[in-house]
Amino acid sequence: MEDRELKARAAAFRSAMATRRSVRAFDPSAVPLEAIVDCLKTAGASPSGANQQPWHFVVVTDPKMKRRIREAAEAQERKFYEAKAPQAWLEALAPLGTGPEKPFLEDAPCLIVVFERKYGLDAKGHRIAHYYTRESTGIAAGFLIAALHLSGLACLTYTPSPMTFLNKLLDRPANESPFLILVTGRPAKDAAVPDLKKKTLDELVTFI
Ligand SMILES: Cc1cc2nc3c(=O)[nH]c(=O)nc-3n(C[C@H](O)[C@H](O)[C@H](O)COP(=O)(O)O)c2cc1C
Repeated sequence: MEDRELKARAAAFRSAMATRRSVRAFDPSAVPLEAIVDCLKTAGASPSGANQQPWHFVVVTDPKMKRRIREAAEAQERKFYEAKAPQAWLEALAPLGTGPEKPFLEDAPCLIVVFERKYGLDAKGHRIAHYYTRESTGIAAGFLIAALHLSGLACLTYTPSPMTFLNKLLDRPANESPFLILVTGRPAKDAAVPDLKKKTLDELVTFI
């Protein structure tokens, strides 16, 4: 590809991605499953250590399951905000205005739960070692966030701690660890986001 075209594409992608923000207030209208499926295929095309693709995605649109996830997550969040969280962590969260209430888990039409597959299993149930599972799943989640955003959907990366309740609720096996939830949908009409600063190029990069 010629330099001119290559630079134009890099700039177009940067400016499209610059409009992405984490959204915490969603419009309840349903989103087309075909679009979510395409975004998941994009995630599935991301690189992974030894091509082991150590991830699994669970798409939740069922209101009853969303409610159960919200109830379980808020139980963890109350413990976090009221007792467990160190003061420094609460101070880091303060500009975001977050708290133990997570209505977006029910308001958003779609929750995509990303699982990291820590190891594989052969036909006899013996463990198959997987490599770089965290890095690989993180990269796939990044692909997914970019795909959702460029499709016109908003999302929030949400990580209640601990998240092990998701294995039980979603019936996932012990070799998979919940990695994050992507709360997905159209933003609410009155959705607002905190005024955050991103690093400048000098802070972000060293050129040698
Ligand atoms: C790994 C990870 C975990 C996050 N967990 C939460 C979370 O549990 N709750 C939340 O409200 N936001 C969460 N976020 C969103 C961040 O707060 C958000 O990305 C950050 O403030 C920057 O804002 P922006 O995404 O709008 O650029 C998480 C983001 C990442 C990447």
